[in-house]
Amino acid sequence: MADEAFQIHLQQLKQKSPGFLETIYALGNGHIGVRASNPLQGNSPAYSGKPGLFVNGFYDLSPIHYGEPYYGYAHNNQTICELPDPRYLIFEVDGVRSDKTPYNVETIDKTWDMASGLLDETFQITTPTGKTFTLTLDSFVSQAERHLYVVRYDIRALNFSGGIKIFKRHDYVNQQIPRATADIRRAQRSNTLMQTYLPATAPIMELSTQKSQLGLLVALRFLGDDPRVTLTTQNDVPCYQINLDLTPERSAQFTFGYAIGDVHDLLAFKLHQQSNVEATVALLKEQTFEEAFAASAARTQQFWQDSDIVIEGDSSLQKGIRFNLYHLFQAAGRDHLTAIPAKGLTGTGYEGHYFWDTEMYMLPFFIYTQPEIAKALLGYRYTTLPAAGRRAREMAISAGVLFPWRTINGEEASAYYPAGTAQIHINADIAYATDLYLRATGDTDFLKSAGFELILNTARFWLAYGNYATYGPQRGHFVLNRVTGPDEYTAMVDNNYYTNRMAKNNLALAVKYADKMAKIAPEKLTDLAVTQDERAAFAEAADKMYLPYDAKHKIKLQDDNAPNRPQFDIAHEPATNFPLLLHYHPLVLYRYQLNKQADTLMSALLFPLDQDEAQLKRDYDYYEKITTHDSSLSRAVFSILANRIHQPQKAADYFMDSSLTDLTDLQGNSEDGIHAANMGGSWLSLVYGFAGMHYGKSGLTFAPHLPTSWQRLKFKIKYRGRQIAVDLQQAAITFTLLHGKPLTVYCQQEPCELTLKNPSKQVSLTDSTN
Ligand code: BGC
Repeated sequence: MADEAFQIHLQQLKQKSPGFLETIYALGNGHIGVRASNPLQGNSPAYSGKPGLFVNGFYDLSPIHYGEPYYGYAHNNQTICELPDPRYLIFEVDGVRSDKTPYNVETIDKTWDMASGLLDETFQITTPTGKTFTLTLDSFVSQAERHLYVVRYDIRALNFSGGIKIFKRHDYVNQQIPRATADIRRAQRSNTLMQTYLPATAPIMELSTQKSQLGLLVALRFLGDDPRVTLTTQNDVPCYQINLDLTPERSAQFTFGYAIGDVHDLLAFKLHQQSNVEATVALLKEQTFEEAFAASAARTQQFWQDSDIVIEGDSSLQKGIRFNLYHLFQAAGRDHLTAIPAKGLTGTGYEGHYFWDTEMYMLPFFIYTQPEIAKALLGYRYTTLPAAGRRAREMAISAGVLFPWRTINGEEASAYYPAGTAQIHINADIAYATDLYLRATGDTDFLKSAGFELILNTARFWLAYGNYATYGPQRGHFVLNRVTGPDEYTAMVDNNYYTNRMAKNNLALAVKYADKMAKIAPEKLTDLAVTQDERAAFAEAADKMYLPYDAKHKIKLQDDNAPNRPQFDIAHEPATNFPLLLHYHPLVLYRYQLNKQADTLMSALLFPLDQDEAQLKRDYDYYEKITTHDSSLSRAVFSILANRIHQPQKAADYFMDSSLTDLTDLQGNSEDGIHAANMGGSWLSLVYGFAGMHYGKSGLTFAPHLPTSWQRLKFKIKYRGRQIAVDLQQAAITFTLLHGKPLTVYCQQEPCELTLKNPSKQVSLTDSTN
């Protein structure tokens, strides 16, 4: 029985441009992503959408051309490949082909059932000769078999009886649409791929990149047996031709399956990859649409079983959060070789790069609800550790690693270093997320095989990068100069608060886990040449890390020199000038106290015990005034912290924006792809914000603040082999142990002991600060 609260209906969306709809309804499974194009116009230059298929980790390189190529600048662009639209069809009615003479698409309807993953769309189309028919697509990207995409077309004549021919080409070269842009958040370049066909019963093409030397096999197969469908070629391109005789009474259905292989190294022996695709093609042969879909839907249901969030009291937020969570699930790489692009696998924005977004905004959701996926995402960082080591050497850092600010293959791809490479906090972000994963799962195997090396090598970087100051208020402290924090409207500063606080944590983690490894795997310490002296140096730098503070105004400073810059007058800036980055040279923005996104406040979010409420309130009020939220990563942080300073309306307002960012096209650029970090941020807002969950020394603690207009917030958390359900209502919060060993959680200092015998504990909230 379809559940309305899991469905995204096109009629309910205000924005309906083709590009926007392609993003909203994009399907994916961490390996592939398919934009929901209009299948008829998908590849016409007149069509304003950007149809395409993306494969995680399939990218090409191009040299970055600098006017002045300084030493150590990133060498290559890395750009995710835009592959052919697998939904595209060409029609021929009365001798008129839709790719030559446009057919009129009169109405479009779409419903995405996120409970099962099925996308159902209907297009009403009229030919230039006045014949009207409907084309219905049912499609899914399989959550059970990651190489699989299946689309079933159903076609029905409305005002005629007669013949219609349909062509489905298996083609890349003829589906290329060049485009240019002045918005740096968009992809600045596109790739040209080589296309060859393999001899096989189903058409299989190998797409290969020119510079990165990667290959990908893509197979197309008609599912079923139907004399009306024949496999031919058109201008040497394999093409299925379907000849139909339609009457209004009788619709025709035909189903195609795509098998999309793993990305392979062109130079390496590729039989394995081929067999991989052939196995999926064989699978397609054996399975009906219904069978393949049932397997996928079962995995989707399992996802919801563990990851759903129920909000009672606001149906649009309920839908918004489910939309965000499902898109996160669709975006996350699961093979230890890929992560989550900033736009998921739904568009070319940011060229398909992975940023700190994955670790700081999205990983918590996976750690607490789908820890296997979280492990795979951290596994990607471990896979790219050697590249990060090479980058550290290139940056004259003698020990440890420096992870790239933005990347696909593990190498730095940021051509603009002040807002790129200088964001060295990425190292500490990865260490923070690794620690969260380790603590929340207790996965000591991962600690031994990868986690410790991630934490150790990122910590080594700080020791080599920083120094003990000999002058001014910083004297005797460990300092990190010339860095850029998360706020990209302030660059190349000394002692960015967030960076220093995170580096301090990273160094302390190296000590903590070195001690742990001494007990459980001492040989690893020897292998990695960890000495007592190094341990002591980590401890001392952590202890003496400088954290800039304005003692007069009692404000945490974003960096050493922040108060000497004037405040930008955000209130009087014309609304049309936002985001400011599209209207001002960076150096103009850098001269002000002006934040693109939460920066110093982000550290308050991550380290709640660092400050009391009065300090947090001062910092919040101060930074809120100078923040534009031009980055979608900002609002969730302000929502969470508003709860901590007991400003419920603010918390609710920021959450509203964050949870509906893409569905309402809040940033105006959802057509370029989803804002994946913000989607993770909306989970954080609910769990860290409204439920007030924090993972402190004694374990999981909660400090609930349910918005007054909501009746209920329900979610589940996985924690060290257990799963607990949290049910927050206005009057009480209930914790239930669903499986696993006994556990004590804390709610407003009160311990709640949960055992399988007595699984539920309720805490009254009537006399709380809620
Ligand atoms: C933000 C970064 C973020 C990037 C990708 C930028 O606008 O400032 O913090 O990593 O987008 O989402």
